[in-house]
Amino acid sequence: MLPRSASDLAPAGKTRPRKKPDELRFLHSWLQDPLRTGAVSPSGRALARMMASYVDPALPGPVIELGPGTGPVTAALVERGIAPERLVLIEYNPEFCKLLKQRFPGATVIRGDAYNMETTLQGLVEAPAIAVVSSLPLFTRPVPERRSLTEQAFRLCVPDAPFIQFTYAVVSPMPLDEIPLRAHRSRRVWRNIPPACVWVYRSPQMNG
Ligand SMILES: C[S@@+](CC[C@H](N)C(=O)[O-])C[C@H]1O[C@@H](n2cnc3c(N)ncnc32)[C@H](O)[C@@H]1O
Repeated sequence: MLPRSASDLAPAGKTRPRKKPDELRFLHSWLQDPLRTGAVSPSGRALARMMASYVDPALPGPVIELGPGTGPVTAALVERGIAPERLVLIEYNPEFCKLLKQRFPGATVIRGDAYNMETTLQGLVEAPAIAVVSSLPLFTRPVPERRSLTEQAFRLCVPDAPFIQFTYAVVSPMPLDEIPLRAHRSRRVWRNIPPACVWVYRSPQMNG
């Protein structure tokens, strides 16, 4: 049976309690580092599925996830048909990294800074990625860093790959007048606290 959420990927032998502990873990992380955590609770299933829906599992190659946290989007990617072995996860919080390694044993979990992703991933990603899926709280970072994030992401990807990002805001977290990108916005996912939408960015050049 496919996993329904990150919590379903708990180690064998344990019952499935898990939503509450994940929320507490998240709240704890937010209290320690609110700007980096960027949310007080993990994304809900509807939002995670919306993120994953923009990844085509039929394309060969890895999928890079930035800021996976406790893993709700990761679980949705697995549910969508991306084998954990194809997932490369960059997470800053060491406690979340430990949890991700338990929940997604086949995935590559890297404790590092997504804003240095090219350096962080050196030698770890053998083929170009088919998508970058980000839950990073972008508004807390200056625009040049956000621009660099997309530029690095597209250099690590196949041509025309999507950079998928959720936001609670009503405006694009990549300011499109300053960062030239092709962009698509999803409908708002109301079944999330708070409601959010997903932006899909692509390089302005079709070849990458
Ligand atoms: C808004 S939370 C999203 C977590 C999860 N993907 C979800 O949807 O519930 C943002 C996550 O990004 C991580 N993060 C923030 N800045 C980061 C950075 N520079 N590099 C890697 N991870 C980062 C945080 O630790 C946190 O887990």
